[in-house]
Amino acid sequence: MTVLEVIRAFAHSSAVGVVVTDAKSERPGPTILYANAAFSQLVGRPIAEVVGISPRFMQGRETRRPALDQFAQALAAGERFHGYLTNYRADGAKYVAEIDCRPLKNVEGRVEYFLAFEREVVRRRGRPWGGMASRFEAATVSSDSLTPDLKLLGAFERGDCVSV
Ligand SMILES: Cc1cc2nc3c(=O)[nH]c(=O)nc-3n(C[C@H](O)[C@H](O)[C@H](O)COP(=O)(O)O)c2cc1C
Repeated sequence: MTVLEVIRAFAHSSAVGVVVTDAKSERPGPTILYANAAFSQLVGRPIAEVVGISPRFMQGRETRRPALDQFAQALAAGERFHGYLTNYRADGAKYVAEIDCRPLKNVEGRVEYFLAFEREVVRRRGRPWGGMASRFEAATVSSDSLTPDLKLLGAFERGDCVSV
């Protein structure tokens, strides 16, 4: 069994968007190797349309370059990226995505894939009381409703967050 087959089995019916790319962070990479149904719904494109292309297809006019630079740095360093980006659906609709992206390493510590959990969030009303994460709340899949396996992996858990 391959790593991708294991991920497919776990992520298949997850309510959280799951997307896996190869480990080539430099342009034109990374390339999407797997996406689940929740990711396809989030981005408004069929799975077959997103497999084989770069996740950059979600970017648009209001996607902030500084946040992407931090994303690129994290990927190049083989580190986790947890942040909020303005993404665009196929029909042009804009949304804020919370992205928790991790490198998947082999036993020698070399990055083999990147895996991201993605969900839509909305800006909270009122003043933020804490860091970046307190400015947003999940639009569809709340952290409380995450499955035990995603909780175990610490999906969307706080850390340093990068803004939209
Ligand atoms: C698994 C994974 C998921 C990603 N998801 C998004 C996304 O939802 N939106 C986005 O703008 N970029 C996403 N990216 C980041 C872009 O692919 C790219 O790495 C980013 O634009 C920084 O690289 P650049 O400076 O060459 O543009 C994702 C990357 C990976 C590895």
